[in-house]
Amino acid sequence: MAYSTETRVFPIDPNTPDHESIRIAADLIRQGKLVAFPTETVYGLGANALDAEAIDRIYRAKRRPASDPVIAHISDMAQLEQLAHRIPSNAYELAAAFWPGALTLVLQRAPHVPQNIATGLQTVAVRMPAHPVAQALIQAAGVPIAAPSANTFTHPSATTAEHVLLDLRDHVDLILDGGQTQIGLESTVLDLTSETPLVLRPGGVLLDDLKLIIPDVKMIERYTNEDEPTSAPGQMLKHYSPKAEVTLFTGPLYSVLIAIRQMCLTYQEQGRRVGLLLAEEDCHHLGDVGVVFSLGKRADLKTISHNLFVGLRELDAQQVDVILTRDFGRTGLGAALWDRLVRAAEGHVIKVR
Ligand code: TXA
Ligand code: MG
Repeated sequence: MAYSTETRVFPIDPNTPDHESIRIAADLIRQGKLVAFPTETVYGLGANALDAEAIDRIYRAKRRPASDPVIAHISDMAQLEQLAHRIPSNAYELAAAFWPGALTLVLQRAPHVPQNIATGLQTVAVRMPAHPVAQALIQAAGVPIAAPSANTFTHPSATTAEHVLLDLRDHVDLILDGGQTQIGLESTVLDLTSETPLVLRPGGVLLDDLKLIIPDVKMIERYTNEDEPTSAPGQMLKHYSPKAEVTLFTGPLYSVLIAIRQMCLTYQEQGRRVGLLLAEEDCHHLGDVGVVFSLGKRADLKTISHNLFVGLRELDAQQVDVILTRDFGRTGLGAALWDRLVRAAEGHVIKVR
């Protein structure tokens, strides 16, 4: 049965959320309803993590296959022990270093936690978000909150309340509108149940920073194969995709700029509307062709990340048919940006020599 409701939106101060809005939102969570809320990474679509029926509602609202597990969000360490068992000591070290923050830990799931949170796996993914609204909501609800990114499945993640509303209107009971999220990319997902700690998704917390605590951490292979970025298109789940078709370019600066210009002109000759999603410096070279969205200065990967999903959605809103973009290296936040861009491009990567 489809879950339909009238969506309310409460504006909320991101730093000092008002008690009344939080109380109403927390009541809804305890009643098994859905509340979208800001975190420091992206907006989450929240439900009581201990209520299997409420979790089910998340999958239906997102139109997400029941094979993609959901992160449980906590506001204190006691809740970690409510969700996971046989917690390894490095989890506590990582929590001390990075929580609250953009790190998600995959651990052994405690037996009473609904299995649909992890699509039947024996594990559970847990994160303590830093955003004051997220913290206040989890605390007031008194239960951990299961929350995937608050977008329709395969759309770019939502970094503003408007994005949530565009995707999920009438499928979520309440949206807490705390403005645009700061980081703009999702958390780093780290599996601590494998033999060596494994990054399943690069994100807000960087690999080099994880190495300071767990030197043996590895990135899942599909992110480390430099030569063949599209070697595993089957594995490249269509994800974060705007409506427009995305092509990602990588290679030496000037060759890439020339290749982008050429492709842009070819598309335009075919009568297709072209969007360019690029760093500010690249826009100076290509600003005369296509509809341009500037992500910020190339060296400032924090700003680029902050703007990425806004840019993908904005170019869609401008009804471009294709989006041409360029990578930001693979180090630091470049790894997470690469992941999101490859997926937005559904593996359509052009390596320019
Ligand atoms: O920053 C974030 O992580 C945001 C905010 C709302 O916290 N959430 C988010 O959730 O991005 P979602 O559902 O869009 O992505 C969760 C990722 C997926 O790649 C999922 O496969 C993985 O975490 N994941 C969740 N539970 C897992 C588990 N038990 N084992 C392995 N991977 C898991
Ligand atoms: Mg998501």
